Amino acid sequence: MSDPKKLFIKTYGCQMNVYDSERMAEAMAPEGYVTTEVAEEADLVLLNTCHIREKAGEKLYSDLGRLRPLKLARPEVKIGVTGCIAQAEGAEIMQRMPLVDLVVGPQAYHRLPALARAGGRPVDTDFPAEAKFDLLPERSGRRGPTAFLTVQEGCDKFCAFCVVPYTRGAEASRPVDRVLAEARGLVERGVREITLLGQNVNAYHGQRNGADVGLGHLIEALAEIEGLDRIRYTTSHPNDMADDLIAAHRDQPKLMPYLHLPVQSGSDRSLKAMNRKHRAEDYLRLIDRIRAARPDILLTSDFIVGFPGETDADFEATLDLIRKVGYGAAFSFKYSPRPGTPAAEKPELPAEVTDARLYALQALILDQQHAALGAMVGRETSVLYEKPGRLPGQMVGKSEHLMAVHVADESGKVGDLVRVRITAASSNSLAAAPVL
Ligand code: 5AD
Ligand code: SF4
Repeated sequence: MSDPKKLFIKTYGCQMNVYDSERMAEAMAPEGYVTTEVAEEADLVLLNTCHIREKAGEKLYSDLGRLRPLKLARPEVKIGVTGCIAQAEGAEIMQRMPLVDLVVGPQAYHRLPALARAGGRPVDTDFPAEAKFDLLPERSGRRGPTAFLTVQEGCDKFCAFCVVPYTRGAEASRPVDRVLAEARGLVERGVREITLLGQNVNAYHGQRNGADVGLGHLIEALAEIEGLDRIRYTTSHPNDMADDLIAAHRDQPKLMPYLHLPVQSGSDRSLKAMNRKHRAEDYLRLIDRIRAARPDILLTSDFIVGFPGETDADFEATLDLIRKVGYGAAFSFKYSPRPGTPAAEKPELPAEVTDARLYALQALILDQQHAALGAMVGRETSVLYEKPGRLPGQMVGKSEHLMAVHVADESGKVGDLVRVRITAASSNSLAAAPVL
């Protein structure tokens, strides 16, 4: 038997790309490929890219530059660009980067094996009518205790700053039965926690027995799977927080008390300019309803600072909203103009204004994060062990609120779900001991 061929995948960007990279590796396994962590020994290198901000794109071109010596030394090595930059700039990549052998957009991964076999520098960025995930091979291989599962792709919202509607296309959901089958397969392989993914996951509307059902219903159906102990989902839009989903946070103990609900800004003027289609007040009322359903829920968000036209007063309104909500953590980004989006036409703010606002916002969020971690001390929670810690007799995993926890547990094993009491908080994690 010949030696297996080696596949190296570098993943940039969001969790959906992490999931897609896994699926691509599984799709290449029947072609005789095993994955490697070392790019230099690969026969096929895939760069699974992100287009969300300019920096993400710059990384692709510098990484391609770094692959040049490999391609010179072993010209038979194939280099592929996949993901959202492939979708947006496929032809340009081929023109600028002669070392690239294939370009495959996110909707064409089921054709990756054929494209990798083919010569002639193929570019496949079609949006096919067929359901890509159902044409990819079934999930395989050994698993850790946590897994991602994409249930929805694309976005119809058209926020003025965002490339996603262009790179991932219109909203599309996988049928409930397909999701359940994939989840059962993951649980059989040792998974105990599944994070449902979608660019707009709470806009999920899958088919079940001829009816159209929402994410709340899907979560209830998944919760019936024995051996699946924890369910999460990300990332959501405030306007799609349907009643059945809020009810699932109240009624379904397997749904973890954590919600990433990006608001982007606390200023109605900026929200309007961003085409978010909700006001700050709507978001705050929504948070009230979610907290009424699940009082201990931990909220996180995304924020963009320095959006075109943002005034000091707009920024103050964002800080004000943050103070009112009280987040457990948040991602914050400097606005980055993306080609083809409406906001890219507008004049940018001076860099020093944006920098100062980002700094101030991150300081406030950090205070809230520390407060949220500190408030856990003395409380009980469950932790799903993901790996051994650095200290002997220590296990590391996530709490119900997705906080990293180091547990002193001599007999702990990866995959154990253990009741613990939090003993201390540091700036980004917790320490705990099992409850006897
Ligand atoms: N500039 C800065 N941040 C952006 N995001 C999306 N598009 C841009 C952009 N053009 C952020 C949003 C989104 C997160 C995934 O990335 O906050 O929620
Ligand atoms: Fe980046 Fe958005 Fe594509 Fe994810 S979907 S890889 S965040 S551009």
